[in-house]
Amino acid sequence: MNKPYVIIHTHTSIDGNLDIMDLQAFEEASRQYQELSLDPEKQQFEIQGYLNGKTTTEDNITHYKRPELDENAAPVPEGDYVADPDAPMYYLAMDTRGELAFEENTFGYGGVPSHIVVALTERVSNAYKDFLRKKKISYIIAGKEQIDYDVMLDKFYNLFHIKRMMVGGGGTLNWSIVQNGLVDEVSVILAPIANADPDGHRFFVAKDPYSSIEETSFQLKSVQELEHDTLWIRYSVKKK
Ligand SMILES: NC(=O)c1ccc[n+]([C@@H]2O[C@H](COP(=O)([O-])OP(=O)(O)OC[C@H]3O[C@@H](n4cnc5c(N)ncnc54)[C@H](OP(=O)(O)O)[C@@H]3O)[C@@H](O)[C@H]2O)c1
Repeated sequence: MNKPYVIIHTHTSIDGNLDIMDLQAFEEASRQYQELSLDPEKQQFEIQGYLNGKTTTEDNITHYKRPELDENAAPVPEGDYVADPDAPMYYLAMDTRGELAFEENTFGYGGVPSHIVVALTERVSNAYKDFLRKKKISYIIAGKEQIDYDVMLDKFYNLFHIKRMMVGGGGTLNWSIVQNGLVDEVSVILAPIANADPDGHRFFVAKDPYSSIEETSFQLKSVQELEHDTLWIRYSVKKK
């Protein structure tokens, strides 16, 4: 199996909350987070794509709409659909059931146009695959009922030439990919803010059936002070 080098890169408050806060320090941390990962001049990771969890994609792109599907569409060819094998950047999404209502085949987070690739499972309908093809949105089949990370990462590497990949969150995806032992680096942009919301979205979240609560240690690789009292902390995951 081939696999990209995987970097979880997330900006968080001191209390481990990922949610947007109406504070100048949040804006500054968010800006630096984007620059380090995606700004062509300032980026530090050399990534070719970034993966987000389904909820994050719904929050930021598809807004919980459901796609209009042609249930009578002709059968699409079996297997994966590669609409653009040479994009400079990819937005990588996960959708086990075929529900994300994308409107176009690129997303411009951080001002960088990124071609959308959706990791699906075998249970996704012909009608949803037809919907993606009509929009020239790439997809891969990775797993029967749930996403098989090994298959997904191998296809990202081989079909889209993604040698280095960022995981952009949220916490559910972050923790499940850590627990699957696939993370090479955890990059934390720590903003000097907090709101102590007990229901806030956290940096790591265990969620059945994707992951479980488990004590885990990390090894410090570097720590750097950025602008506006923001810290950039890089860890590797300690092997058990
Ligand atoms: N500050 C930041 O840098 C930052 C970055 C990203 C996100 N966020 C915020 O974080 C929040 C969302 O985080 P979240 O933890 O609720 O959701 P998430 O990680 O974005 O998505 C998790 C969902 O993805 C689907 N999924 C499918 N296969 C999975 C697998 N193998 N492992 C994990 N998930 C899988 C599941 O939905 P189904 O079971 O329905 O299929 C799961 O509930 C949003 O509010 C977002 O704005 C903040």
